Amino acid sequence: MSEKTNALKQEFLLSLADVKTQEELEEIRVKYLGKKGLVTELLKDMRSLTPEEKKTFGQEVNVLKEEVSEKIAAAREEIKQAEIERELALMPEFDVSMPADLRRGSYHPITLVQRQCEEIFKSMGFAVEDFREVVTDYECFEALNIPKDHPARDMQDTYYLDNGQLLKSHTSAAQNAIYKKYKDALVNEGKPIKAIFPGRCFRNEATDACHENTFFQMEGVMVDKNISISNLIFFMKTMLSEVFRKDIKVRLRPGFFPFVEPGFELDISCLICGGEGCASCKHSGWLELCPCGMIHPEVLRAGGIDPEEYTGFAFGLGLTRLAMMKYGVKDIRDLNSGSLKVLSQFTDDK
Ligand code: PHE
Repeated sequence: MSEKTNALKQEFLLSLADVKTQEELEEIRVKYLGKKGLVTELLKDMRSLTPEEKKTFGQEVNVLKEEVSEKIAAAREEIKQAEIERELALMPEFDVSMPADLRRGSYHPITLVQRQCEEIFKSMGFAVEDFREVVTDYECFEALNIPKDHPARDMQDTYYLDNGQLLKSHTSAAQNAIYKKYKDALVNEGKPIKAIFPGRCFRNEATDACHENTFFQMEGVMVDKNISISNLIFFMKTMLSEVFRKDIKVRLRPGFFPFVEPGFELDISCLICGGEGCASCKHSGWLELCPCGMIHPEVLRAGGIDPEEYTGFAFGLGLTRLAMMKYGVKDIRDLNSGSLKVLSQFTDDK
């Protein structure tokens, strides 16, 4: 090997010994093997050589080139391994022989009743819709016949965003969007609007055994020609007997909501105390479960539906209350507590 080639090789080996990172290695690769690299430059010296010398020198340079690339590839692999080892050293140690925690997670009781209600209503031809938690003032109030400064707003104080939007205080906030979505099929194809829309709701309220600032409702609406209160009562009764799988005492009494006329409160006899009166039912023996009523003409109009031609009912089922009654949860705050001891009791009922 010529002196020059050998010197270059020694120089290369020396600098390779110091390399620690892939970036440094890449620099060296470019320095020696790049288009203008030192190995490539060697070939330029060939011009002054005889053809015989050119041949041997050319071979020599090629051997060096190969050696350099092999060494670089090997160094690259070594650096990669060292990086992996460094990362592994930082990881916590796992004891693979440790027995697994076999406790299973469980569905939240509200998820369970929500799914059950969805199945019941789907089997009766209702579509299940989803809706946002952040809504506009129009969606939550104005479109529901609750203008600014209407006293009905007091009962639904909620949490406001800086941009004027708010966390929905009831699932009724989706009604307007649902009417607009289905109104063409109603008018042009005669398809009744039948939809339920479960969702999380928020109210700025002091909490106690039966009030929470965050809870779930399931709204339902049906709009068609000639829909009456009897339709409403039929669907409510069917749903409740399916959910509880037993006869439940219910009562209907007048209730005021600006978006229904007439409006009702559907109460069920408290299942926690059997109607005797307890903290869960405010000691009345009855629990407001499902406010409902015939959709107000103004609300239909805001949704693009002619109230002269169509009527409908709406209900706002308290899913959280329903879950409490079905599973005997005495304090509503347990449901948001994240306590596995409370929540995992319902696992077997999927
Ligand atoms: N949105 C009403 C509430 O949360 C309940 C309701 C829904 C009443 C539908 C009538 C019809 O208070």
